[in-house]
Amino acid sequence: MSAPLILGLESSCDDSAAALLRGRVVLASVVKGQADLHAGFGGVVPEIAARAHAERLDLCVEEALAEAGVTLRDVDAIAVTSGPGLIGGVLSGVMLAKGLATGLGVPLVGVNHLAGHALTPRLTDDLVYPYLVLLVSGGHCQFLIVRGADDFTRLGGTIDDAPGEAFDKTARLLGLPQPGGPSVEATAREGDETRFRFPRPLLDRPGCDLSFSGLKTALLRQRDQLIAEQGGLRRQDVADLCAGFQAAVRDVLALKARRAIAVYLEETPANPALAVAGGVAANQTLRDALETVCAETGLRFTAPPLRLCTDNAAMIAYAGGALLASGVTHDMTLSARPRWPLDRLATPLVGSGKKGAKA
Ligand code: KG4
Ligand code: ZN
Repeated sequence: MSAPLILGLESSCDDSAAALLRGRVVLASVVKGQADLHAGFGGVVPEIAARAHAERLDLCVEEALAEAGVTLRDVDAIAVTSGPGLIGGVLSGVMLAKGLATGLGVPLVGVNHLAGHALTPRLTDDLVYPYLVLLVSGGHCQFLIVRGADDFTRLGGTIDDAPGEAFDKTARLLGLPQPGGPSVEATAREGDETRFRFPRPLLDRPGCDLSFSGLKTALLRQRDQLIAEQGGLRRQDVADLCAGFQAAVRDVLALKARRAIAVYLEETPANPALAVAGGVAANQTLRDALETVCAETGLRFTAPPLRLCTDNAAMIAYAGGALLASGVTHDMTLSARPRWPLDRLATPLVGSGKKGAKA
């Protein structure tokens, strides 16, 4: 018997997405971003996001069905992000999922968005439990030991901003285009990372928690000092600022990864591995640093392809399929949850930057 055909829906932040998945085969994955709608506001506007999801999610589903060459009648189950995230957007997805599941008479399963990211390395690289994940995006930053489809231990996370937010803010401060990550990375290639020494926050504190808001402030001060001294910023200044900032993010994440790996290895996992996921995982400097840490500590290093690293619905369909396989389904009482920590025993993270709660 072939694996069930799962329709996944994602609408927790600023990407409306639908995907069709059978086993580990992604038959279609459609993502409609909203960057243009929020561009003028300096962040995601929840009401605009919710309305856009309500308008676009069904289009995403139609496109995904056409791409996969199947019809709604072929779908065996619906998986939907039911949190954490911006509540209006999550509700749009949950309502559509309930309607589809009822209309088609197929099971419904609510998925934690972060679980979608954390389980992606199984979809792409077939990693075996337990493995370590570093989730780094515009909305998330945490180290997780993944033990099962609904079994996670959080070793640490950001206490304020996510690294992607810091990249975006840096780009804004230096007049570079959004999203900030790619433009800061490209500009940093021409820069000297040793010219400005930015702080490496929380390195003196034990554990795996991280902080990025101080780094942003340090960059702002350095920029203003240069402007005051020289009357403006030269091209090389911008490149050196970008390189210094990126080096600080890299060093903090690499050092905290070492600490997370030490905790993880205490469990003597059979096939030790670290996966990095989220939009910031696109950063080559960060990847290289994590790869080196893994080589030194005997871990396999994986990074899913970018289209599955950033927000998408294939990861939701995959996580939903894993839950379904373990007997989990939800009924029409499934609710949308703005906050939903993966590790129920860990203390809540306080950060809730521009992209909403991090759980
Ligand atoms: O996972 P994602 O698409 O969306 C969420 O945050 O949920 O991540 C987007 C973030 C943005 O902040 C963007 O600036 C950052 O990922 N990013 C990067 C790079 N490419 C994207 N950050 C650093 N280096 C990059 N090459
Ligand atoms: Zn995400």
